Amino acid sequence: MKKILVTGGAGYIGSHTVVELQEAGYAPIIIDNFSNSEESALEGIAAILGKEIPCYRVDCTDAVAMRQVFEQEQDIQGVIHFAAYKAVGESVAEPLKYYHNNVGSLVALLQVMSEFNVYNLVFSSSCTVYGIPDKLPVTEQTPVQKANSPYGNTKKICEEILSDLAASGAEMNSIALRYFNPIGAHPSARIGELPLGVPSNLVPFITQTAIGIREQVTVFGSDYDTPDGTCIRDYVHVVDLAKAHVVAIDRLLEGKVDKLEFYNVGTGNGNTVLEAIQAFELATGVKLNYKIGPRRAGDVPKIYADVTKATEVLGFKTTSTLEEAMASAWKWQVSLKESTTEA
Ligand code: UD1
Repeated sequence: MKKILVTGGAGYIGSHTVVELQEAGYAPIIIDNFSNSEESALEGIAAILGKEIPCYRVDCTDAVAMRQVFEQEQDIQGVIHFAAYKAVGESVAEPLKYYHNNVGSLVALLQVMSEFNVYNLVFSSSCTVYGIPDKLPVTEQTPVQKANSPYGNTKKICEEILSDLAASGAEMNSIALRYFNPIGAHPSARIGELPLGVPSNLVPFITQTAIGIREQVTVFGSDYDTPDGTCIRDYVHVVDLAKAHVVAIDRLLEGKVDKLEFYNVGTGNGNTVLEAIQAFELATGVKLNYKIGPRRAGDVPKIYADVTKATEVLGFKTTSTLEEAMASAWKWQVSLKESTTEA
């Protein structure tokens, strides 16, 4: 079985990808510093797969420690690099933390990969690189814009690092996946999103409100130029998103990538915040306490993906509906409550 190193493999998207990799016949190996993830994710992965996945507690900015992992594991065939900070607001308050971690880890990783002749990388990018797009849906040709947060800028800079490396002729093949809005959880409810503190993302805020941890969801703005006035996003089920990484690794290992490719990973559908809330209510039968509030600074009014390239080149298409994703997020939230009640 081909070994694939997954940095941030105990995190939200990482843990789901580890499961999909193993189920597709790869041997995933996790690196995580557990700064924004829990050991319980490893137990969840083991419960789903019926086996434990090797995990190194290593910080990806630490090239010395990373080298030891590559030495110990030998013949790693590819790397999927998730490890990064992702809180937009925090990145505004602590930009250096974000540049150090998100940019520093990619640079260290690329150096260590080259030393060990590992030349296949999947990088976690984001639709945030498109800023406020002029035309919708966004394709991979849509111009990248100035980032509106240090977090977004780290994604843009990391893409530029990969482009510069490709232009240098260095031996490295990469796929950058530009995620739209990942939501939901594994159908087993053994792994899912574990936000630290008060969630800033919509779906964990919805599920925590519905279960009684939070009082009320505030819908950020109802005066946007959209059918119901609330922002539009492309919500993609995290299991679908995880599968996109498997096909990206397949393509790299088949030698089909010439230096660097970019793909949007979304459903191709845009939904408003109110539609997302309605989908949650329909999927779960739970009535959500929400109110309309002011706009949140920095929000993009509307964005959703053109998925033609991923469909045609990667042969990748999402299969889950918004309701299914919401139902899985809810099942996960309920299971978290049950496990804390039992403990
Ligand atoms: C943001 C980033 C994205 C990043 C993600 C990671 C931008 C433009 N997008 O996504 O790149 O990967 O965070 O965390 O920087 N909403 C409410 N009430 C809430 C929470 C959210 O109405 O309590 C609305 C937001 O206004 C938005 C939608 O729900 O329209 C989704 O918000 P969120 O889940 O925070 O994701 P993004 O801001 O799209």
